[in-house]
Amino acid sequence: MNLLNQIKAKVGAAFEAAGFDASNTLVRLSDRPDMSDYQANGALPLAKALKQNPRQLAEKIASYLREDPLFETVSVDGPGFINLRLNDARLGQEAYALLATPQAGYERPDKPKTLVIDYGGPNVAKALHVGHMRPAIIGEAIKRICRFVGDTVIGDVHLGDWGKPMGLLITEMQERYPDLPYFDKAFKGNYPQEAPFTGQDLENMYPIASAKSKEDEAYAARARENTRLLQEGHPGYRALWQQFCCLSIADIKKQYDELGITFDLWRGESHVHDRLQRMIVRLRDEGVLVKDQGAEIIPLGKAKSGNDLPPLIMVKSDGAVMYAATDLATIEERVEEFHPDAILYVVDARQSLHFEQVFAGSEKINLAPGVSLEHLGFGTINGADNKPYKTRSGGVPTLRYLIDMAVSAAKAKMTSGEMGRDLTADEQSDIARIVGVSALKFADLMNERMKNYVFDENKLTSTEGKTGPYLLYAMVRMKSVLEKMGVSSTLTPEDVIHISVAPERQLLLRLYALPDAVQTAYDNRAPHVLCDYLFKLAQDFNLFYHDCPIKGADDRLQKSRLALTKYTLHVAQRVADMLGLEVPEKM
Ligand code: ARG
Repeated sequence: MNLLNQIKAKVGAAFEAAGFDASNTLVRLSDRPDMSDYQANGALPLAKALKQNPRQLAEKIASYLREDPLFETVSVDGPGFINLRLNDARLGQEAYALLATPQAGYERPDKPKTLVIDYGGPNVAKALHVGHMRPAIIGEAIKRICRFVGDTVIGDVHLGDWGKPMGLLITEMQERYPDLPYFDKAFKGNYPQEAPFTGQDLENMYPIASAKSKEDEAYAARARENTRLLQEGHPGYRALWQQFCCLSIADIKKQYDELGITFDLWRGESHVHDRLQRMIVRLRDEGVLVKDQGAEIIPLGKAKSGNDLPPLIMVKSDGAVMYAATDLATIEERVEEFHPDAILYVVDARQSLHFEQVFAGSEKINLAPGVSLEHLGFGTINGADNKPYKTRSGGVPTLRYLIDMAVSAAKAKMTSGEMGRDLTADEQSDIARIVGVSALKFADLMNERMKNYVFDENKLTSTEGKTGPYLLYAMVRMKSVLEKMGVSSTLTPEDVIHISVAPERQLLLRLYALPDAVQTAYDNRAPHVLCDYLFKLAQDFNLFYHDCPIKGADDRLQKSRLALTKYTLHVAQRVADMLGLEVPEKM
């Protein structure tokens, strides 16, 4: 049992021994580490409910706790808080049992869940930009946190690869290259294996096509017709569209790879096209769809907030498939195929109305009974002016720009000697990539998900303060301490801790607090909680490193301090893995 749970059980038993109900002991990590390690605040509300004197009631409970050797001191403070200070020897002895597990003391629940997580959400033929960074980074972290907790998690990129944008691209292709075989009605052979255009061509063409369709009604009509033909299965258009997807996916994968982001499924909106058509027919037959100005809609009624929800449009008057309808069909598929307990959508908070509609629509047609549908929104990335972040020249930054900027900032620190002094030039390039990417990810993940944050290029790769490089430095230091002393990082039962001074104690208590941080991050789908934890862990370690010499210490203390370093690395590595942060060997 992890430390918090042990303490909870002991305090619960003391409540019962004193003749009280143990359901509300309110045990938690102390917010006054100068006074206690843990506190139990449940005596106060209990006394209120029983109309008893809270201090007397707390004293009664405390007297039972004082008999337990785990507690060094048990005091009743203020109006009736029970402050618990743990015994150093006991804390040290527990290290192997509490920390040397694959989850570093986190106890997985008996009934793990199955989750589908929909994140990333890139679109074919559109360059990944600043708006695609958070869904990818946050989604990846949430996926990893859920897996750490024991859930089975299926990550799906849910590519925007269907509908009007594809019709627009086909139309623009036709304008420019009317002689391509895709447009030849009489063409019988095999369509070209290699696309006669590049992913970059597509990215350039899409905005042009989109602008034209807004100005030129004939062009727009052709695009609509081409969309329809594509969706109906026009062989040439399907072949052309396959090329769009192949090129885009290759480009997108490359950038996600650089960020250490991977998906189990690379399905797109197109994947549920046929299913959606069947669903529309069924809902029409069942009388669920209502005709409204040529479109077919699902009326939704009131939102949870009490406001009326706009209806969910299933089919537009021109027959086009709508975004929300596609999401409904995708829910149906995911439920059928994976039987998930929940489907999580890591998508911009500005799409909250969309998800409210989709979830209400799903409920109305009973698509996912018992499945929790969660929109995990996030705020925007802003510049110093608190407006959406722009490049130096004022454009919308691409994801490529952001990655390159972070990596070159890390590289610059190495060239200037601020980091990586002992590295060869080759090592510097490799490590600058790792450090730059981890810095970018940490700078994003450390913010509360729903809040907007200000992106500070200069702070990103600073080695001081709450930054990626600060953490990586601490972790590299743990590795190099062990290496220099010729100690393997593998934990063994001989790794016993003897607490001699305060920084050791503080660090060890921090290690024992991991399960609580994991649980909070999991329950709230909040990676920033683990960022906070890792930052404090790095600070505690640095304090320990400076105050507790290893080389000069006597044998017993030296062994203990090396063991503490091993445990710290073990825990820190687990957290870095959950956050998706790569840690270099040297720095
Ligand atoms: N491709 C969409 C966009 O660019 C995001 C997709 C989010 N996922 C979803 N199931 N709707 O806005």
